[in-house]
Parts: sequence; structure tokens; C-alpha cells
Amino acid sequence: MTSLATQIGTLRLKIPSSLLPVSTCRPHPASVPRSRQGAAVVIAKSTNETAAARLQLEQAEYRLLDENWNVQPWTFRAPVPPFVLSRSGLIGREVDDWVAEIAALDAEAAKQNAYVAGSVILADLDAGVEIGRKFQRAGVRILEFNIGTPYGDEASVVTTERSAERVATVVRAMRQGVDRMALWVKLTGQSENVAALAHAAKQAGADAVVMIGRPLGMLPDLETMRPLINTNAAYGGRWALPLSCYWLAKTRKALGPQYPLIGTNGAQDGQDVARMLLAGASAVEMCTAVLAGGFGVIHETITQLERYLDGKKLDATALIGHAADAVQSFAEQPANGSWRHHVPPQTLE
Ligand SMILES: Cc1cc2nc3c(=O)[nH]c(=O)nc-3n(C[C@H](O)[C@H](O)[C@H](O)COP(=O)(O)O)c2cc1C
Repeated sequence: MTSLATQIGTLRLKIPSSLLPVSTCRPHPASVPRSRQGAAVVIAKSTNETAAARLQLEQAEYRLLDENWNVQPWTFRAPVPPFVLSRSGLIGREVDDWVAEIAALDAEAAKQNAYVAGSVILADLDAGVEIGRKFQRAGVRILEFNIGTPYGDEASVVTTERSAERVATVVRAMRQGVDRMALWVKLTGQSENVAALAHAAKQAGADAVVMIGRPLGMLPDLETMRPLINTNAAYGGRWALPLSCYWLAKTRKALGPQYPLIGTNGAQDGQDVARMLLAGASAVEMCTAVLAGGFGVIHETITQLERYLDGKKLDATALIGHAADAVQSFAEQPANGSWRHHVPPQTLE
């Protein structure tokens, strides 16, 4: 029997996947234990100090799309369509109330060798650090600090940090505030060099980086001739997996194999978790797959990953970075004229 356990800094996780709980769409704490169903970590719906961010969840909207951009029903059954456009919000609860809830859930999770992590999305730095301290004082063991939300240009109540200097500043401040918690920093993919942001976060004291945040998109609706869901939107789904793997691999190369990377954006099943591990992730977060595919996705993911590892006769940790370390340069490739099979045949007449 192969082992699914993995290590993020000093924390040992029983399986290499974590997820955002269903409190994302139904901010009810009762849903958190259900969403744990075997996940090593549940990351709680994010919070910050602004009242406007709390209201935003009620204004949120979500659409699943097929490969022809047709809107698909949200059935809570897998498989989930490949494209997702959404506009989300933060937890609609007072910070103190939410922190107390997460602390209680994390204490309960500890009995099952699992974690419920607090999450702060940055708005004002001092206020964000104060919320981090509240999580720490309440006994929560992991803080995910999201400084890479897609919505920074769309909503004034959150920021998207794209410069290494700013990443260093905000992570250093949070690190000083939460000196006893594991600090995971979630980074934007909307940067020309995500690996440089990861390097800055590492130097500033992050225990791990989570990558990559989703890009923004806008899809015109042919019927209404207006933007789908009326606004610009975060654009996610399984299609994004190679982008996440690219930056995981690049970051592993830049920061070295010892520094823990956590994959997010595009993993929808156990095979995708394996793909992100091969790209350099030590753990993988799954959100859309569970929100749109239902809780059964968690158990199915673990079973599928186990099956893959058993087939390869490898432990999960043996996958980490295997493909990343095998990435070759273009110049190293054989000159086998493959292009001839990839142009319309008339081209060659
Ligand atoms: C509806 C929805 C709500 C989300 N809410 C949060 C959030 O509160 N905090 C956060 O850090 N990320 C949030 N995310 C981002 C996810 O954690 C994740 O990084 C992203 O969706 C890409 O991963 P996925 O392909 O597994 O969904 C949300 C994503 C979706 C689709």
C-alpha cells in the first residue's frame, strides 16, 4: 500500500490535497466537517476587515460552460464542465465570529489528524495582520494569506499584488504578526514572473506558496449581447491545469526542491492531483471540482490518486517535481519534422 502523506514545512498532511469548503457558496459552518471527508486541510472561506467584502458574497454569480461556451447546469455531480466564470465574495460573517468558528473546527479536525485553516484576503495591510493575529490567538494552526485574488482591479475591497517588492512587504508584515502559525501565501498568476513573487514570499517568511490564482475574463453572451454575469469575472476550470503546472515547475526550479509549493487552479480529480505533484506541488487545493461536483469528489479523488500510486508502486512524495525536473529546452528536441503531420495535407503538395 502506497502512502498519500506529504509534508508542508513542519506540517505533515495525511493526503496531498486540501480544498476550499462549501462555506464558499453556503456560509454555514456545518458544511465544513462534511467537506473534510478525507481531505487533509479545509481552507475556510476568506475574510477581511471590510463590510463591503462581506456584502459581496450576496452579489456573487457563477456559470459553468462547455467547450462551445454554452452555459451548463450546476448539478453537484462530476465531471464538471471545463470552463467556469465567476464573481465571488468573502464570508458574510463578522470577523470575530468567523475566527471563533474556524478555531473550534480546527480543534475538532486535529482529533482526526486534519486541519481547518483560516484565510485572509488582503485589503488594508494593518487590518489584515490584525485578523491574522486573531486567528493565531484563537489557536488556528494554518493561515492562508491570499494576496493574489483575481478581483483586485474589479473590487476596491481586495488587492492583487503583482510586484515582488509589495509581496515582500505584505508577507513580512503578516509573518511578524503570526509568528506561531504556518503561513501559506496565495499568489496571483496575473504576473509576468510568478516565480519571482514566490521567491519574494519565501524570503519574507512564508512557509509555503499557493499558486496560481485565476486570471480575469469577460465572455459576451450572444443572446443578450452583454457580458455574461454582467461583469468581468474570474476564469477557471480544468483548462487552467497546464498553466498552474508551468508555474509550479518554474518556481521549483527557481526556489529549489525543498521549498513547499501548493498547487491550485484546474485540479478536478485524483489524476489532476498527481499531475500537479509531478509538476512540483507538495499538496493540491481543489475548489471548483467540489463546489460544482459535490462532496463525493473528495473521496473519489483520493481513491483515484491511490490507484495511480499503487499502479506506479510509488508514494505521493515520490511524484513531487518528477515531471518538473524532466522539462527540457526546445534546442534539445530531435529534429524529426513532426510539423508535416500538423498542417493541412494540401500545404505539402
Ligand atoms: C466560487 C469560488 C469561490 C472562491 N472563494 C475563494 C476564497 O474565499 N478565498 C480564496 O482564497 N480563494 C477562493 N477561490 C479560489 C479557489 O480557492 C481556487 O484558488 C481557484 O478556484 C482555482 O482552483 P480550482 O480550479 O480548484 O477551483 C474561490 C473560487 C471559486 C470558484
